[in-house]
Amino acid sequence: MSRPDLPLHRYVAFEGIEGAGKSTVVRRVAAELSDGAEVTVVREPGGTPTGERIRSILLDGAAHPTPWAEALLFAAARAQLAAEVVAPALEDGRWVLTDRSVYSSLAYQGGGRGLGVAEVRAVNEPGLRGVWPGVVVLLDVDVDVGIARQEVVDRIGGEGAAFLATVATTFRSIAAQEPERFVVIDASGPVDDIVAAVLTHLGASR
Ligand code: TYD
Repeated sequence: MSRPDLPLHRYVAFEGIEGAGKSTVVRRVAAELSDGAEVTVVREPGGTPTGERIRSILLDGAAHPTPWAEALLFAAARAQLAAEVVAPALEDGRWVLTDRSVYSSLAYQGGGRGLGVAEVRAVNEPGLRGVWPGVVVLLDVDVDVGIARQEVVDRIGGEGAAFLATVATTFRSIAAQEPERFVVIDASGPVDDIVAAVLTHLGASR
């Protein structure tokens, strides 16, 4: 299902491994955009009461979901967010900036956990009903740098360097397959430069 009625080019996902600086960049881009436009900022997993409860299961070190249970929980939280927040905001003409998206599931569960990118995509599509990011900003950073910058280590982000290296490789290969959707930015440089590059890409620089 696609949603040609929605302005999906205003639905912008920020992706990358831990320590890539997504949260800072999202905050800064939102502040720049909100100067002249309405912006909704969300994060995955979470962003709705239902999603935040699923998030606590997913990131709890005491929980041990199987890889497929993990993938389906992420997909469930995301389906709720798409229906409850993202689609209505886009319908209202707002920008929606998201800290992670379905592409994290493709890279972490599809690549990192080895479930397969196509397989994970297939279980996400029905719940999203075409509410799919039109732009994906991939903040690309070396695994060692990302791990060194990591502030909070959660159940999945703490899987180790080999896991994150597979996640990073999967992000890059998806970006290469979807060049019209992805903008890949070297995230080792100054935040000001990253924010400027994102705004230019969105056609919102000033
Ligand atoms: P997040 O809270 O965004 O952490 P970070 O600060 O590292 O970006 O994400 C929590 C963890 O969940 C992170 O290790 C990435 C992982 N994750 C997945 O494995 N699949 C997904 O679909 C999403 C959205 C996140």
